[in-house]
Amino acid sequence: MIKSSIRQSAEVLYKKEFEALVKADNNPKPANWQMSPWSVVQYIIGGKLKDGTEISPKYVGKKSLIEICVATLLSERALLLTGVPGTAKTWISEHLAAAISGNSGLFVQGTSGTHEDAIKYGWNYASLIAHGPTREGLIPSVIMKAMETGGIARIEELSRIPTETQDALISILSEKNIIIHELEKIIEGNKGFNIIATANDLDRGIYEMSSALKRRFNIVQMPLPENLEEETKIVRYRVQQMGRLIEAPLADLKEKQIQTLLTLFRELREGKTEDKKTKIRACKTSLSPAIAISIIHEARIHAHYFDNNEIRNDYLVKGLIHTLRQEGEEELQILQEYNESVLKKRTEYKEWYNLIKKLDKD
Ligand SMILES: Nc1ncnc2c1ncn2[C@@H]1O[C@H](COP(=O)(O)OP(=O)(O)O)[C@@H](O)[C@H]1O
Ligand SMILES: [Mg+2]
Repeated sequence: MIKSSIRQSAEVLYKKEFEALVKADNNPKPANWQMSPWSVVQYIIGGKLKDGTEISPKYVGKKSLIEICVATLLSERALLLTGVPGTAKTWISEHLAAAISGNSGLFVQGTSGTHEDAIKYGWNYASLIAHGPTREGLIPSVIMKAMETGGIARIEELSRIPTETQDALISILSEKNIIIHELEKIIEGNKGFNIIATANDLDRGIYEMSSALKRRFNIVQMPLPENLEEETKIVRYRVQQMGRLIEAPLADLKEKQIQTLLTLFRELREGKTEDKKTKIRACKTSLSPAIAISIIHEARIHAHYFDNNEIRNDYLVKGLIHTLRQEGEEELQILQEYNESVLKKRTEYKEWYNLIKKLDKD
């Protein structure tokens, strides 16, 4: 059996880039950061270093947004990335943590079952019963570990954690310490410690965030791609990256195929045509770049293993219909209305029009 993990962390995947960035870094480094804020931004946005090393872009979008994220992590406040699903919140938080502290693995996955021990500390019960509360019997949370090392801790899906549990973060973020009452001990946060949290749109969160907690975060809204060109760039780039992980010669999509699929995504998401002239009913399904990336990735795999590596448009249409059906049959009605009122009139979309009309019945 060949041993290789399915998903490698950013610090492993981009080790070479990190080494080159650290070597080339002449800018001042904050305490416990492995590189300067300038280099962190460079790592995320991509570019070429003086020694010729190519830094691949991780985020396609405004550089100023990444600068705000990095500056926040140097400030008193923590960083909260919000936005609709699939806008690279998790992706950016992993890369920021990897670039800043060389460890993106200190994270809590927020759920309604997340308890305060995941935020502060817990106990090994056998030890607690045998010896009472001792430092050896204490199980630190990842946040406590990040505090002790001056690293970045991540909290995924903060708004899925019940409000009372979320509030355990208030004292951590304002005092930068955790008090262990049972041991009469205080764990002080080291310089460099901070938290990056992510949450799907706050108004749609399951649990509200208290205003006291909100104040301790700088809330950055991650936007959907501004135009078709940017969205195509994100999708094409990530599809290629994911394809490289599959060790098989996957075929590339034609530029026109990506653009057509993404035009459908954008118009159904926005509820109007790209030229803004025709209003349509918008889909409820989150038609984000992330969804387009998976539809295309799956189509490439399918074509490779079952279809002579020819990526036909019907895979893409099937992928779209499948995604919409998961939200409910109403979504397919919206698609059909859009097909009849918009796509039918576009001669270059004839094949797509026919496929949508036909495949919906499958
Ligand atoms: N602007 C963007 N730049 C680069 N990748 C993006 C962008 N928007 C979305 N993606 C891609 O979408 C995928 C899913 O993103 P993810 O971080 O899981 O979304 P979220 O946490 O916001 O739901 C990732 O593979 C990411 O690369
Ligand atoms: Mg996420």
